[in-house]
Amino acid sequence: NRHLISAADLSRDDALLVLDTAEELAHIAGRSIKKLPTLRGRTVVNLFFEDSTRTRISFEAAAKRLSADVINFSAKGSSVSKGESLKDTALTLEAMGADGVVIRHGASGAPHRLAGWVQGSVVNAGDGTHEHPTQALLDAFTMRKRLGDLDGRRVTIVGDVLHSRVARSNVLLLNTLGADVTVVAPPTLLPVAIGTWPCSVSYDLDGVLPKSDVIMMLRVQQERMNAAYFPTVREYSRRYGLDAERMAALPDHAIVMHPGPMNRGVEIAAEVADSVRSTIVEQVANGVSARMAVLYLLLGGSEPAIGQEVSQ
Ligand code: CP
Repeated sequence: NRHLISAADLSRDDALLVLDTAEELAHIAGRSIKKLPTLRGRTVVNLFFEDSTRTRISFEAAAKRLSADVINFSAKGSSVSKGESLKDTALTLEAMGADGVVIRHGASGAPHRLAGWVQGSVVNAGDGTHEHPTQALLDAFTMRKRLGDLDGRRVTIVGDVLHSRVARSNVLLLNTLGADVTVVAPPTLLPVAIGTWPCSVSYDLDGVLPKSDVIMMLRVQQERMNAAYFPTVREYSRRYGLDAERMAALPDHAIVMHPGPMNRGVEIAAEVADSVRSTIVEQVANGVSARMAVLYLLLGGSEPAIGQEVSQ
């Protein structure tokens, strides 16, 4: 594949190759070698039309650790405010030399359109309510590290599935990797097409907790919310929030995940987010390795392989 737009772009072998490569890269980083020469001379443009903390910084760190040159573009403060289109913005950046474009955009499908306009590889860093494939990869990487092989593992994804690109990408990738996924949400926060997703649906969080190896809480996306879809925060937390009492119903080995940013006290209690079962900070750290693997595999071409690391 030249691009990574959807988790569905990845076959089981592709996904395992990314995860194995991420593991190898994390191992090299653990030996305190700061940089690999692999992408020396290549340019990665981070094209962010929507706000981000984790994903933007993580892609920047990943590209720099592979010795790529990085250009960070955010729509705020750019000529987008003068009405410049996505296509013209992308062609302008490409004219300055971009081998890879990492894009976050509020419109579902924007990375797909971009891939038709530019020569370089396009990586989707979150598009509207559609997909966030590198989040799913870093989540799978985290699960594999904690629990081993994902085949047959029971993963429960809870909350605002309707607005969640993280949920869709996770359901697709986890299904490819052989996990058994259940989504739990209020009926008003499920997509109309949920029946076509490769997962089960439940409205009973307390019923699925004891049968979960992983519980992934989703952010309630107030900025995309139609008030009619949402009960009160208090009612939502009572029915679908993960508090300490609910966490105690999980099997002993189960882990608690959240992609961030969190609404503490809404979908997840602070004491759960900060508990030893939580992998939330680990997910962020793993994000750099997962994104290094994606950039390495998409842009590395015939450049020096892993193993030719240099210390700088
Ligand atoms: N999980 C995630 O995509 O976080 P950011 O919006 O901060 O990048």
